Amino acid sequence: TDAVRPLIAGNWKMNGLKASMTEFEAMLRGAPDVLDKADLLVCPPVTLLASFASKASSFGQEGRHVVSVGAQDCHKNVSGAHTGDIAPEMLADAGATAVIVGHSERRADHGETDAVVREKALAAWRAGLTAIVCIGETQGERDAGKTLDVCGTQLQGSLPDDATSGNLIVAYEPVWAIGTGLTPTVQDVEQVHKFICDRLTERFKNEGPSIRILYGGSVKPSNARELMAVPNVNGALVGGASLKAADFLAIAAGC
Ligand code: G3P
Repeated sequence: TDAVRPLIAGNWKMNGLKASMTEFEAMLRGAPDVLDKADLLVCPPVTLLASFASKASSFGQEGRHVVSVGAQDCHKNVSGAHTGDIAPEMLADAGATAVIVGHSERRADHGETDAVVREKALAAWRAGLTAIVCIGETQGERDAGKTLDVCGTQLQGSLPDDATSGNLIVAYEPVWAIGTGLTPTVQDVEQVHKFICDRLTERFKNEGPSIRILYGGSVKPSNARELMAVPNVNGALVGGASLKAADFLAIAAGC
């Protein structure tokens, strides 16, 4: 009964070759059957972004993509001497409409701080992209009872001012649930999502309640229905299970 339309977003991480177009096409073909439940977004590695986006346009309905395409990271600048980096303007040019920033793997592998993540979110907005900002506690932080503190600090530091339901999506991904098959209890998910929703409403006033809050971490077809029914869960950010069209679409069907 949430008024916010759910989004099922796939994060392919460092997976996918040209041959993966077959799987993506299966998603595009199946998407119309689940679009009454949720919007769909796939974030492939950047090497596949342009070809996925152009394939998605050819499957569009009334000028709208049935599956939108996004990226997994961006640089904060428009251009310049930054070997190996990609500007959000380049992602938009390749057909992306959104970009994930501050994924825990980027925070861990590349030392991205809240301040860096915030700059990347601002850069995404500059390029007209929706920023999907990820937060979440580690196992140690949860064990120490610090989950809400950690999420609150990450939200405060990673989100720029002037967020709206159009330019921002928050993804709550407990680090210990990513790729492990473990998920928090529905009570724990409910508690954190309520906390995030309250914080967004305090900070962004009227916009707050309509900013989507996705749950991420070991979402699969068998647990999606239960997780998606939790109050203030407005969809999922899916890793492993987003690589297979059948699983990805089954998760959306569970919304
Ligand atoms: O960004 C999605 C992700 O970190 C969750 O991964 O494989 O546990 O669904 P997975």
